Amino acid sequence: MKPSFDRQIDRQGTWAEKYDARETLFGRADVIPMWVADMDLATPDFVLAAIQSRLNHPILGYTQVPLSVAQSVSDWQQRQHQWAPAAESVVWLSGVVSGIYLSIQAVTQPGDAVMVFTPVYPPFMRSVTHLERRLVEVPLSVSQEQTPRYELDWQAIETAMRTQQIKLLLLSNPHNPSGRVWSRVSLLRLAELCLRYQITVVADEVWSDLLLDTQSKHHPFASLSPEISAQTITLNAPSKTFNLAAMQTAYAIIENEQLRRQFLHIQQRTRAGEAGLLGLHALQAAYSDAGAAWLASLLVYLRDNVARATKALASCLPELVIMRPQASYLLWLDASAYFSEQQHQVDWWINQAGLGLSNGTHFGAIAQGFMRMNVGCCQQQLQQALLQVQQVSSQLTKQENSHVFD
Ligand SMILES: Cc1ncc(COP(=O)(O)O)c(C=O)c1O
Repeated sequence: MKPSFDRQIDRQGTWAEKYDARETLFGRADVIPMWVADMDLATPDFVLAAIQSRLNHPILGYTQVPLSVAQSVSDWQQRQHQWAPAAESVVWLSGVVSGIYLSIQAVTQPGDAVMVFTPVYPPFMRSVTHLERRLVEVPLSVSQEQTPRYELDWQAIETAMRTQQIKLLLLSNPHNPSGRVWSRVSLLRLAELCLRYQITVVADEVWSDLLLDTQSKHHPFASLSPEISAQTITLNAPSKTFNLAAMQTAYAIIENEQLRRQFLHIQQRTRAGEAGLLGLHALQAAYSDAGAAWLASLLVYLRDNVARATKALASCLPELVIMRPQASYLLWLDASAYFSEQQHQVDWWINQAGLGLSNGTHFGAIAQGFMRMNVGCCQQQLQQALLQVQQVSSQLTKQENSHVFD
């Protein structure tokens, strides 16, 4: 039976950050939350059943993870992305962000330069500055095609690589916040540069399963060649795909044994968390035939949500520039035509539209004028959110220098 994603599920009282942090973040608890990247859709029932089944045994002691669980990661990568890393190259983590912090410590020293392409998921920048490395931000450029998309700015990248002694690149593949799926050609060119300048790459591929655009394909960075794999740490998790963030279960894939040893050394020395028992059972159940079938249905639903949201927003806010995601359930919205001040825009989405979006400027100073909208929810909730925008959209007029609404 095909899963139904139409059920509206009340998450209040479940310690859900997306809901419970609203008062603190938005100053009011009644906004429809469309910010942090989890979905208001149920985790598949066979995944929940696997967790419950483990709880039938009454002892929850320390865990030794069998290699078969790592093999299910490899099998899933093979099934989804035609990449079959050895099970032995899998390192268990308590989160992808934890893997970013560990990678930085494993590969660089304080003061070393770490490159990111902005705008980008905020912990990419925060981790570098927290660990007292030097953050080198290279802004993405926007393609001038009919559908606006981010592109890698080759000239800026090469200049930075040539002049800044970059040690590590943090790559969001596919890209958060825009949902851009990098083409094989672009990734190969990037890999070639990283090889030439001896830059290790952290490829955060947590969005890779949620591929909406049937014309695109996700290419694991490490799958491009054995040479590039030798200097790549891939990070991934079932958390976005199967809505399992609370399970705190993620993994690194590091095919280079020496690099893996360096990573494990830092993981042990910092006592950084590994994956939890219940999360591992969830992962194993998710990375299966049933998981693949469920995911295919989810993608149909998310594609439809993105299409509905894009259409509704474009019709009521014609000057809004919408970056349609090729992957993920995130819309990257440029409303700078309506607002000259980001704070006015933030206030408008909260207090006029009644929605809690992510502030674009958290993804880099370059993202002035942007907001990120999470449409990973049931259609009833999405329709309500879009209706709320439609009802107040006439307040906004295209601005030259300032913004007006009341
Ligand atoms: C690119 C990216 N990496 C990592 C994460 C979070 O990973 P985790 O919760 O496993 O630390 C997110 C969540 O939104 C993300 O978008």
